[in-house]
Amino acid sequence: MSTLYSFMSAMADAAEEDFSSPREFPLMPIGEACDMGTAEDGTPLIDPRIFDSPEFFRNPYPYYRILRDHYPVFHDKLHNCYYVTRYDDITECYFDDEGFNTIPKGSSNGVLGNTQLELSGVEHRRRRNLYGQHLVGQSLNNRIPAIERLANEMIDDWDELARQGSDWVQDKDGKRIIELGAAFANEFPIRVVCEVLGFPKEAQSQFYYWYNSMMTGLGGSETHKLGVEARQDLEDYIAGIVEERRKNPTYLYDTDGNPISKDIISKLCETRVDGDFLSTEEITSNIALVVGGGGETTRGAILNMWTMLLRHQDQYKEVVADGDKWDLAFHETLRYASPIGGQPRHNTFDVEMHGVRVPAGSLMQMVDFSANHDERIFKDPETFNIFRDDLYAGKLLRSGYRKEGKCSHMAFGVGPHLCPGAWISHQEAVVGSKVLLARMNNPRIVEEKMPRDIDGKSPLPVSIMSVRQCWLEYDL
Ligand code: HEM
Repeated sequence: MSTLYSFMSAMADAAEEDFSSPREFPLMPIGEACDMGTAEDGTPLIDPRIFDSPEFFRNPYPYYRILRDHYPVFHDKLHNCYYVTRYDDITECYFDDEGFNTIPKGSSNGVLGNTQLELSGVEHRRRRNLYGQHLVGQSLNNRIPAIERLANEMIDDWDELARQGSDWVQDKDGKRIIELGAAFANEFPIRVVCEVLGFPKEAQSQFYYWYNSMMTGLGGSETHKLGVEARQDLEDYIAGIVEERRKNPTYLYDTDGNPISKDIISKLCETRVDGDFLSTEEITSNIALVVGGGGETTRGAILNMWTMLLRHQDQYKEVVADGDKWDLAFHETLRYASPIGGQPRHNTFDVEMHGVRVPAGSLMQMVDFSANHDERIFKDPETFNIFRDDLYAGKLLRSGYRKEGKCSHMAFGVGPHLCPGAWISHQEAVVGSKVLLARMNNPRIVEEKMPRDIDGKSPLPVSIMSVRQCWLEYDL
């Protein structure tokens, strides 16, 4: 029987089932899928209720493997979408942003405003060029001292936090215990972005509140209102700044007090599209997107990276011995456990992929998590190995995703929507981690305080949810 035919017959079996009633799935050892039945020819069946189960959230990869091997385009009739799970298929769809456009962003549009995320083609390119250039290259390199300074400022505060009896920074018997998220990673990326945008320092805590509310607002209908209100507050605040900066632009300065360049808000104020200045609404949407896109993601990357490295002491020691290896650790972390799982797309035309007909206008979920663990691209994908020879970890490839026989991970996407914040988040994670390492003497993970798995006993595996807390201890 041909693979195509076996695939179709398995789908026919699955289609007859009724998935409307709830189903519980057993918790499996990490890396093993539970048995959801098999078709006559032995093909494992997929029950789409698995995607809502606790078992899937802690142990998704064996299920993605079944999808890649047997249903590379899976029609999930319960959630009314199609999952695309192989690396090569996903990259092809991402590069074709007119055939697979980015319109379905759900509540992000209401909260963040009309941003480039929803645009395709020429419209998208025009918007993207507005500030993407400020997040890369020399203008970013000039800001590295500022990133170092912000990291040091946050760590300087730890002594005071310990004295005040903070839950997140505690001193005992010549040792300090910190929760790296609350003490550093939750806020550090926001502080960096705030600085690069050119927000006044006194507005930063207010800014963190807006950021948190907008992020919460993306979570669903109940919190949507909170997000929209925060965005309105942000817009009112930015309106005043924009008015001022249109007349008097402000600058970012190097450590000697020399101006490096105008901050991003000042640049946006003087930017014209088709002869017209950007409206305040457009500037706000751009800012909301940069803030929304850069906070939670980079926080997850920093916490996942430290957790994975400290749990792999041999690799951690290599990074300590040679600071250049932080770059490898950053990219392997994003491959192994990306903070973003994938992106929705709508297909503009009827398409047929792997024998599955997808009618025009369907919701197609590009599963980046699965692409990052595709054994067709990455050997032994379930192993965290910063020295793997199949992962590209060099300068970000705008035009492609393959170089020197290696592939880049999919955490930043590829193609026209490739994350413009990739380089700045890389610098935040790497520069921030070098500063952390210089300031912590012999850091180690405090496993007994780490979040627990669903059984309440074993440590929660680093999987599709980024680590929420990372407890470290170091000698004072
Ligand atoms: C580890 C950190 C980050 C990850 C994993 C990440 C991931 C992504 C991904 C996957 C996309 C593509 C969306 C799509 O294809 O529809 C994206 C887009 C975007 N990201 Fe990031 N991002 C990160 C950090 C940042 C930072 C620090 C910023 C800003 C300073 C940022 C700003 C943006 C913006 C503005 C877009 C929209 C690009 C467009 O649609 O053209 N991101 N990001």
